[in-house]
Amino acid sequence: MHNSYKEHWENVFTTKAEDEVSWFQPYPKTSMEFVDLFNLPLNANIIDIGGGDSHFVDALLDKGYKNIYVLDISSTAIERAKQRLGSRASKVNWIVSDITEFEPPVQFDFWHDRAAFHFLTSEEKIYKYVSIAEDAIKKIGYLILGTFSENGPTKCSGLEIRQYSEVSMSSRFEVVFERIKCIREDHTTPWKAVQNFLFCSFKKN
Ligand SMILES: C[S@@+](CC[C@H](N)C(=O)[O-])C[C@H]1O[C@@H](n2cnc3c(N)ncnc32)[C@H](O)[C@@H]1O
Repeated sequence: MHNSYKEHWENVFTTKAEDEVSWFQPYPKTSMEFVDLFNLPLNANIIDIGGGDSHFVDALLDKGYKNIYVLDISSTAIERAKQRLGSRASKVNWIVSDITEFEPPVQFDFWHDRAAFHFLTSEEKIYKYVSIAEDAIKKIGYLILGTFSENGPTKCSGLEIRQYSEVSMSSRFEVVFERIKCIREDHTTPWKAVQNFLFCSFKKN
């Protein structure tokens, strides 16, 4: 992706407070329900793709998870998350990278992505993401993806996104993964707009 794409995100996290972005949620309830469902051991390798300054990492630390990775294209977002966590930040592995250029340092038991994958709109980038995830997730590992659904917005943060249905998302991942379940969720933005998300979970097959 060219530089202006990264700049877009650095600018977002430099100019907007956490509750001035549409995707803000004080507690990532749905994501944590998936963590609980999979019953992951506390030493599981967990990565949040496009984690930004989401509170998912806080919730994982609160539960006692020890091997957490947060990846984001924006170094500003990562800095903000670190600031918020204070001394707890040193317990987390922070990675500034474009997901389509990510070289995973370990394999993961659990790969989480809320509203990052849907920004990939070209076949080439989508293909890269899927193949990186296929290799980076352990033989018995889980993937959870949240994107806007076909009933959701067509843009996010002013950028075109790709909407997914249960069928279109599954067809991207079902070569190597088996679908566990999909749910729809209405996310309410800080200014009370409603955005329909699709979350699907997959298990490596
Ligand atoms: C809509 S926000 C969602 C943030 C977070 N997942 C959450 O739920 O609060 C999208 C995030 O993905 C990051 N992002 C977008 N494209 C990316 C890419 N190609 N590689 C890595 N991160 C990316 C952005 O910087 C931003 O933090």
